Amino acid sequence: MLTDVLDLLACPVCGAGLAPEERALRCASGHAFDIARQGYVNLLTGDARPGTADTPEMIRAREAFLGAGHFAPLADALAAQAAEALPPAGRILDAGAGTGYYLARLLDRAPGAVGLAVDASKHAIRRAARAHPRIGAVVADLWRPLPVRTAAVDAIINVFAPRNGPEYRRVLTPDGLLHVVTPTSRHLGRLIPELGLLTVDGRKRERLDRALGAHFVHVATTTVETEAVLDRDEVLTLVAMGPSARHVSAPRLHARLAELPAPIRVPLSVSLATYRPARHPRRDDARDRRARSS
Ligand SMILES: C[S@@+](CC[C@H](N)C(=O)[O-])C[C@H]1O[C@@H](n2cnc3c(N)ncnc32)[C@H](O)[C@@H]1O
Ligand SMILES: [Zn+2]
Repeated sequence: MLTDVLDLLACPVCGAGLAPEERALRCASGHAFDIARQGYVNLLTGDARPGTADTPEMIRAREAFLGAGHFAPLADALAAQAAEALPPAGRILDAGAGTGYYLARLLDRAPGAVGLAVDASKHAIRRAARAHPRIGAVVADLWRPLPVRTAAVDAIINVFAPRNGPEYRRVLTPDGLLHVVTPTSRHLGRLIPELGLLTVDGRKRERLDRALGAHFVHVATTTVETEAVLDRDEVLTLVAMGPSARHVSAPRLHARLAELPAPIRVPLSVSLATYRPARHPRRDDARDRRARSS
């Protein structure tokens, strides 16, 4: 519930803490944000939602595909790794949470922890808000300053979603860990050429390290490989939940799919990389001095 994560949140306008009112959150300067009927709060400011937010169709497809358990081995590996490093009563941010599937699996393994789900899509966040009793869900843009207090979370999970190095570094405690899941070049295998899907960038790791830049230090990477055995409708759902949904025309997809013998065996292959915050000598020393003198 939102109340579980209230002390992690910051006003997106002025950065102050947010206090609950009957149907809103409000900061001391009077900036107020309505709590939706479904229990989430929208902390987007200014313009409309980012163009990269998932559409309702993509979210529906994602919910169906994840709900069928095809990515369960990945969710389990991520949950085991992240839970092991969490302190008791850990606070977790899922940056680009989608429907909250991965965060809910992690909370199942971390009984004292709470989870903050952030996504730009309100259709996703509505689902995330009810994915687990200890999830608080917020609509926000990961490319803007996050509406999260500095050094407020013990872990960040980031599954196939945007990576904002400076902001993830700011909101993570100095001992916290960032867990990033990205597809490998083996992900979806022959489906990519056969259905004309977007290719996975082979230099993703390099780009990933660059995106996290000076803010994080790579700790370890493992690979999780599994295989889904799918009928044609399930393949359509898999395509509809991913980036190719915006690029491949439906008639072409149906025509190509009709030529593949079913059931279709699809490799699912992802990297699970862990990072710790880099130390920023001058800034961290100043913070330590302030902490000692207060
Ligand atoms: C491929 S989905 C992954 C969702 C979830 N992590 C999962 O694996 O099921 C990418 C998610 O990032 C969200 N997203 C894209 N751009 C965003 C942005 N600028 N700020 C916040 N969320 C964003 C989308 O709405 C979508 O839910
Ligand atoms: Zn404010």
